[in-house]
Amino acid sequence: MFFHPGRTPRGVVVAALAAVALLAPTGQAGAADSRAAAPPLRELAAESGRFLGLGVNGPLLDQANYTAVAGTEFSSLTPGNEMKWGSVEPTRGSYSWAGADRIVDYAEAHDQEVHGHTLVWHSQLPDWVANGTFADGELRQVMTDHVATEVGRYAGRIARWDVVNEPLNEDGTLRDTVFLREIGPDYIADALRAARAADPDARLYINDYNTDGLGAKSDGMYELVTSLLDAGVPLDGVGFQAHLILGQVPASMEQNLRRFADLGLEVAVTELDVRMQLPSDAAKLQQQAVDYGAVVGACVAVDGCAGVTLWGFTDADSWIPPTFPGQGAALPWDENYQPKPAYHAIVEALGGDPAPEPEPGSCVADYRVTNRWNAGSTVDVRVTTGQPIAGWTVTFGLPVGESVVSSWNTSLTQSGTTVTARNVSWNGTVGAGGTLGFGFQTNSGAVNAAPVLSLNGTTCTTAGQAPS
Ligand code: G3I
Repeated sequence: MFFHPGRTPRGVVVAALAAVALLAPTGQAGAADSRAAAPPLRELAAESGRFLGLGVNGPLLDQANYTAVAGTEFSSLTPGNEMKWGSVEPTRGSYSWAGADRIVDYAEAHDQEVHGHTLVWHSQLPDWVANGTFADGELRQVMTDHVATEVGRYAGRIARWDVVNEPLNEDGTLRDTVFLREIGPDYIADALRAARAADPDARLYINDYNTDGLGAKSDGMYELVTSLLDAGVPLDGVGFQAHLILGQVPASMEQNLRRFADLGLEVAVTELDVRMQLPSDAAKLQQQAVDYGAVVGACVAVDGCAGVTLWGFTDADSWIPPTFPGQGAALPWDENYQPKPAYHAIVEALGGDPAPEPEPGSCVADYRVTNRWNAGSTVDVRVTTGQPIAGWTVTFGLPVGESVVSSWNTSLTQSGTTVTARNVSWNGTVGAGGTLGFGFQTNSGAVNAAPVLSLNGTTCTTAGQAPS
C-alpha cells in the first residue's frame, strides 16, 4: 500500500522552511532571494495531486539544517545511493540495509513517499555482478533474486520503483550492459515481472536521462515501453531524469511527457537539476528560475505527471561539481541553504503566490519546529522586515525549563525564559521585504504554542496573519 503525500500540519509547531533572504557569507551575487515565506512546496504540489520529491543524501539526515528542509518541503524521497545494488548487496548473497532502512524510516516519520532507486542499472554495481563470470541463465536468476529480495524487503512501503535505470543509448537502442549481454533484451521484462511479484502495489518505472524532450533517445524509450505494454509486461511509469543545462530545457518537454502519459502510463520528473558554468550571477540565476519553472510547469500541465523530484536541494550537496568541473549551482537552494530564484519559480509553477511583504515599520515572524524527539527539538525562525535593517535582535520567550542547547546563524543568549538572538557578522543587513533566519536546538520535545517574537523591539505578527 502507498499513501498520497499529505499536507504538512501547519500552525504553531510543525511546518517548513520557506523563502528567506540572508546575505550569504560568501557574498555570492544574487544567490539568495528577498521574497518572504511561501507554503512548503509539498503543500503546493499536493494541491494538484502531485508529489514534490527530493533525491536525498542519507548521511546528511544527521544535520539539522539539512533535515529542516528535507523533512518539510518534500513529500517524496528518493535515496541517492543507498538502494543501489552496490550499496545493498556488495557481496553476493550478503545484504546491507542500514542506509536504505534509515531513509525509509525517515520518510515514514515525515509522512513522505519513497521512490526506490534503483534495482537494475549498469552503474554502481558490485564488482561480482559487473565483472562476474556466469553460467548460462545464471545472471537472470541472480538479477531476479536481487529484485525479489530488495522489493520484497520494502513491500508496502515504496510508492514507486525505478526497476530499470538508464537502459538506452543516445540513439535510442538498448545500451550494452552486462544484463543485455548475459540475458538479452528480455532482462527488462524479467526485472519488471520480478518486481511486480514482490510488491504488487508499487508503481514500476523505467527511468532514463536525455529523454526529456522529443528526440531519438526518447523515441527509443517510447518504442521500448510500447513493446513492453503490448506484451503485457507490468510497467506503470516512465521517469525523466532531467539533468539539464542552463537555458536548455527542451521546448518539447510537455509534449514528450504527454505522449507517454497518453499510453496510460504515469510519468514523473525524477532527478531534476539545472547546472551552469560557475560562478553564478544574477542573470544565470534568473535563467535557472525560468528553467525550473518550465520543467515543473510541464509536469503540472500533463495530467499523468505524478510529480517532480529534485536531485538534491542545496548547492552544497550536488553530484554536479565533482562530475562536471567548473559547473554547479544546479539546485534551488544555495550553498548556505538559502532559497534561490529557482525556488520561487517552483512555487509559482505549482500555483503558489509569493507572500505579501510587510508594511514599513512592521515585521512578520515564522517560528517553526522542524524536528522533535523525546528530549529535544529544532526550531527554524524567519523574520521578514518591512524596512531595511543594519543589525537585528530578535527576542522571544520559551516555557520554563526549556533551554537552548545550540544555535546557528545567530549569536544567541538565554536569560531565564527570555531568548535573545542577534545577527552574526555576515547576516545583519537585510533589505525591506527581506527575511532574516536562524535556528536553534532545545532540550525539550514538548508541544507548545509558538511564542510571540520581536524584531529590534517591534512585536511581529505571525506568518499567515494579516499585519495589524
Ligand atoms: O561513499 C563514498 C565515500 O566513502 C568516499 O569517501 C567518496 C570518495 O569519492 O565516495 C563516496 O561514494 C560516492 C557516492 O556517490 C556517495 O557520495 C561515489 O564516489 C560517487 O560516484 C557517487 O555518485 C553518485 C552517482 O549517482 C554515481 O553514478 C551520486 O551521489 C548520485 O547522485 C548519482 O545519481 C545518479 C542516479 O543514480 C542515476 N541518474 C544519474 C545520477 C547522477 O549521476
